[in-house]
Amino acid sequence: MTTTFNPLKEKGIPVDEQLRTWHDIVQKPFNKTDVDCYTRTRQILMNGIEVEAWNFKHAFARFSDDIEINKFIAQTRRIEDMQQTTVNWLTPSDQSVLETTLGYEQVAVDLTAWLAQNEPDKYVKETFDFGLLEDFDHLYRYSQWAHMIHGIEPSDIVQGQTDVVLGRPTQNHHNDNAIRLRKHYDKDTAAPQTKVNILTLVSGEQQTHNFYAEHGMQYGNDILRETYAEICDVEEEHVSMYESLIDPTESMYEKLLLHEFTEVCNYYTCMEDEVDERIKKIWEMFMLFEIEHMRYAAELVKKYDKKDPEEIIGTNIVIPCRFKSQKKYVQDILKKEIDKRLDNNMGYTTIDELPDDWESYSVQEAVAEDGAPTETTIRLIMIADNRDIVEADDALIAKQPQLLAKGLQDEAQAPNTVSIEEYEEMGERDD
Ligand SMILES: [Fe+2]
Ligand SMILES: [Fe+2]
Ligand SMILES: [Fe+2]
Ligand SMILES: [Fe+2]
Repeated sequence: MTTTFNPLKEKGIPVDEQLRTWHDIVQKPFNKTDVDCYTRTRQILMNGIEVEAWNFKHAFARFSDDIEINKFIAQTRRIEDMQQTTVNWLTPSDQSVLETTLGYEQVAVDLTAWLAQNEPDKYVKETFDFGLLEDFDHLYRYSQWAHMIHGIEPSDIVQGQTDVVLGRPTQNHHNDNAIRLRKHYDKDTAAPQTKVNILTLVSGEQQTHNFYAEHGMQYGNDILRETYAEICDVEEEHVSMYESLIDPTESMYEKLLLHEFTEVCNYYTCMEDEVDERIKKIWEMFMLFEIEHMRYAAELVKKYDKKDPEEIIGTNIVIPCRFKSQKKYVQDILKKEIDKRLDNNMGYTTIDELPDDWESYSVQEAVAEDGAPTETTIRLIMIADNRDIVEADDALIAKQPQLLAKGLQDEAQAPNTVSIEEYEEMGERDD
């Protein structure tokens, strides 16, 4: 589907009409039992986008000595913050931290899979595919806990749209943070789609990190707290990895324009896809807010960078993500790339090709010296339930031992690692 919508030519809601009452800011939450899982993923993603918009404007202001610009930044930053409250507080009070967590990982899996298939830059796509298999494994690990603590099935949240089986084992996600860094795109040649894709994903990953950092302690179980700490740290690696794809030589005005454009594009897509009529109206109103933020950012680019904003964002909206089931794509990447690893030169390699002095080995040995909580997670569910909690077609579930044999490193293994044989035994138990 081609959409023609040039946001630079559209009219939104003027910034001085964007202040709302507390009653309007705090809307009625969705109902966790009948919300469409992709309404929830949109809500989680847009919260992350608003947090980034707000955060970026604080960073901008701390570098800017121009009071006229700072006044505008201060005004719209408050609007971003109010939008964030509206979006995040659609979360109902009875949605547990773990239920929300499954939603976060569903966002990561289905968003990253969509982005990878719609990314024109091959290297960026490869990076998306790499991160995809890590968040896919997080969904599996957290699903065990959602079952053990709250007695729910992953399908209560993911509604059968996203598979739940092991991915690249989480204990193997811990890299030297320096080798996580990627080559960045070139601001003058990269497609607007690439820029929006990356900024969307960075926002999502950053918010995932923040959510785990702020909520993982809300459970009393020590192993679960440690599991949150372990996965939170991987999300820090994800933020580092994805943000390093961004050209750091973009001016602050250019970055501001890209932030507002990313907000416009995401709200536009949410509005088009939303099945909940009430929430659709929120996406539409906020898109109209963002169009005016973007218009001002475009003026700043013209004035200070002497650049045509269309050189940066093009003349048409881009679609960052249409949330839908990505099982087939994810399974393909899972089967092909579970043994992929970061090399020492900003590229990729496989387990068999890793040098003996690979930087990440020492990190993995250091953090998992006492065992990896994400492995203890599986040991606990084996005791509680006789086998792990999985949701996928039988053929994929039966492949778990093979996937593990391919995807788990022999080197720097945590002492409590659940073995391939133990996975084979679990597969034989049918209850
Ligand atoms: Fe915003
Ligand atoms: Fe994750
Ligand atoms: Fe992630
Ligand atoms: Fe904005």
